[in-house]
Amino acid sequence: MRVYFAPLQGYTESFQRLAHRQVIGGCAEYYRPFIRLERGEFRRRDLVELSDGDLDSVPQALARSYDEAFRISELVSSHGFRRLDLNFGCPFPKVVSGGYGSGILGNADAVRDVLRVVEAFPGLSCSVKLRLGQSSVDESMSLIPLLNDTRLCQVVMNPRLGRQGFGGEADWAAYEAFASQIRHDMIANGDMLTKDDASRFSAVMIGRGLLGNPLLGLELSEGVAIEGEKRVELLRMYHRAMVANLGGIEQPLQKLKTVWDYFLPDAKGRLRKAVIKSRSLDEYLGCVEALFDSLDSEWANGDLRY
Ligand SMILES: Cc1cc2nc3c(=O)[nH]c(=O)nc-3n(C[C@H](O)[C@H](O)[C@H](O)COP(=O)(O)O)c2cc1C
Repeated sequence: MRVYFAPLQGYTESFQRLAHRQVIGGCAEYYRPFIRLERGEFRRRDLVELSDGDLDSVPQALARSYDEAFRISELVSSHGFRRLDLNFGCPFPKVVSGGYGSGILGNADAVRDVLRVVEAFPGLSCSVKLRLGQSSVDESMSLIPLLNDTRLCQVVMNPRLGRQGFGGEADWAAYEAFASQIRHDMIANGDMLTKDDASRFSAVMIGRGLLGNPLLGLELSEGVAIEGEKRVELLRMYHRAMVANLGGIEQPLQKLKTVWDYFLPDAKGRLRKAVIKSRSLDEYLGCVEALFDSLDSEWANGDLRY
């Protein structure tokens, strides 16, 4: 099975993505959170992130017109990237109301306009990440001929409507109906937290499940279970690599704390709380080591299972 690391704005930033690739791996590609223009300018933080040298990852454009998509494509090409993903799925209300993300899906002309960059940049291998629609499944179904006529390397679908946000049920029957008519490689995305959730697909994109259990991708792609001391050791090394990658950055503590929004949800609540409440980097690192030590002893007692 092929596993792709989903992009999560605020979480899958360079320090995290590089640490995952260096220490754990198992992912065919790492998608980067979207780049967008604000009042005609690139955001400073997008430019800083884009200069991290990780040219094997997949930059993503949030654009609603050919001109915007062109400027983002030009930016990523000039940095040396060979891939570009077009975001037609972000459901945040502010994004949708501006006609971006899943808000573009009901407007086939705008989608066609953005997709023109695929021909304008033959050096970029392009993909699309989308929802079923903003308000109706008909939106994605009616885009099928256009998507099939476009030179795409793959299509990622989270089978929800934009108006559902990240909650509510995914509609896997609608996913199958869409995927069966798409001539490109299809990648299923949404709610994959365990091996069982992913097992019926040949390619999956995982976000929150991988942030929670960073070994899930390796286990799925290699068909192995990584348990016991080996598991805890890899998690420790992954965390150390994230800390090292933040060297020189302002406020590393804040960045590291956000990791715990998803990381190791089954760890003891008392220890997680201590990590999140720590007031200095030293205190934080001590609390994290105590948490990993507790995982070691839980494994030894046979109390912890994934
Ligand atoms: C906080 C947050 C930020 C996200 N940022 C992006 C983004 O920049 N680009 C994108 O395509 N999807 C983004 N997503 C959506 C995820 O890539 C993914 O499609 C979604 O979380 C469903 O997959 P999961 O259930 O495996 O997490 C974001 C999701 C969350 C929760």
